[in-house]
Amino acid sequence: MTLTNKTPESKVQSLFNQIAPNYDKMNSLISLGNHQQWRKVAMQRLDVQPGNFAIDVCCGSGDWTIALAKAVGPSGQVIGLDFSDQMLKIAAKKVDEAGLKDRVTLVKGDAMHLPYDDDKFDVATIGFGLRNVPDANQVLREMVRVVRHNGKIACLETSKPTNSVVKLGWNAYFRTVPVMAKVAVNKYSEYHYLLRTTKEFVSADELAQMFEDAGMHNVTYKKFTLGAAALHLGRP
Ligand SMILES: C[S@@+](CC[C@H](N)C(=O)[O-])C[C@H]1O[C@@H](n2cnc3c(N)ncnc32)[C@H](O)[C@@H]1O
Repeated sequence: MTLTNKTPESKVQSLFNQIAPNYDKMNSLISLGNHQQWRKVAMQRLDVQPGNFAIDVCCGSGDWTIALAKAVGPSGQVIGLDFSDQMLKIAAKKVDEAGLKDRVTLVKGDAMHLPYDDDKFDVATIGFGLRNVPDANQVLREMVRVVRHNGKIACLETSKPTNSVVKLGWNAYFRTVPVMAKVAVNKYSEYHYLLRTTKEFVSADELAQMFEDAGMHNVTYKKFTLGAAALHLGRP
């Protein structure tokens, strides 16, 4: 399965720079507060060990980076990589406030071409980023490349409910998202784009197949909130 986001990368980058100041607030609003619980379960299942070296691809405002930094402990290290200066600025402030600067490095970079050698990390994560990159398959292959054999890769992403009744309700709810964004933070078109990438993204089964195609084994997934989101795990 080939999945490409046809919006030019520079446009996606400028969109995330624009929504960065309100990104955390809108995340809580759109997911009705559920994303924190999804992230908590993701960390439990990922079972990061003290001393691990982890990379959080498309780290945005840093929530998953910070959770990883707490889990790796003082002997571990975490890279948070993103191409949006404004998102990285917010992540840096949050990392500083959490007292985790000693074990987090925030890097401006492109998820399509990770600037690291093969087999460098124990763990790689991507949260709500895969549906926004130009080629999701390439990003998964890059994550496989930089994680050592039998390390762990996790993707937390919006998904598609399969039950037709749930799908109807989900579609109706998601149509209100750009309107919410207009009212809450005056950003209609930006959230219209994010709604479109959510709708166009693959199902949980298709993403599991993409994990395998990228070279992962032991691929599993867990759906959240009637299939509104899913956590995929695999090992290179
Ligand atoms: C929806 S946000 C998710 C942020 C964060 N991971 C989270 O869980 O909240 C998507 C992030 O992906 C970043 N991004 C999108 N395409 C990228 C790319 N090609 N390379 C690096 N970062 C990218 C955006 O700048 C944005 O910060």
